[in-house]
Amino acid sequence: MKPFRLAIFASGSGSNAVAICKYFSRHAQIEVALIVSNNEQAGVLQKAQELGIESITFSKKEFVEGGSVDTALQEKKITHIILAGFLWLVPSFLITRYPNKIINIHPALLPKFGGKGMYGARVHETVRNSGDKETGITIHLVNEHFDEGKPLLQVTCPISPSDSVVDIAAKVQALEHQHYPKTIESWVLS
Ligand code: GRF
Repeated sequence: MKPFRLAIFASGSGSNAVAICKYFSRHAQIEVALIVSNNEQAGVLQKAQELGIESITFSKKEFVEGGSVDTALQEKKITHIILAGFLWLVPSFLITRYPNKIINIHPALLPKFGGKGMYGARVHETVRNSGDKETGITIHLVNEHFDEGKPLLQVTCPISPSDSVVDIAAKVQALEHQHYPKTIESWVLS
């Protein structure tokens, strides 16, 4: 068993989860041991199966109260939690259990364009309407509030006036796949 064992929490398509799993597939010290989702229809579950990584789903009640999620994290000896498109607030028992060991990626330059309800295309649309000339990604530690933990990395990309929301989303996603796995690696090993 490798010393550092990641659980990825994801609610959506899972492109970041795939990038992370591929990056660590032959790593000497770090492995992705579990994929966790609140959404039984999430594309990430199919991807977990294809990658041969165990996955679980759970209800809101189970998540907030602990139960099966907690048991799975303990059974798999999870050392770090990676949020990758996970839409629920992380309950305080997990923040306490994993102090400074939960990380998130946000598809904009926090503290702008973050908080509850700011996810997916809504973020990029708000950024575009703001007239800002750049956007990017923020990788940050997770606390009890949406998108407010200590930032570990921000990377920017330019927005041109002709960029659509889809264009902005594609630029930001490319930055996510390029930087999230490497940032996780240096954070886990630091
Ligand atoms: C990413 O844009 C990430 O920044 C945000 O949720 C999205 C997840 O996308 N937190 P995917 O499911 O990894 O493709």
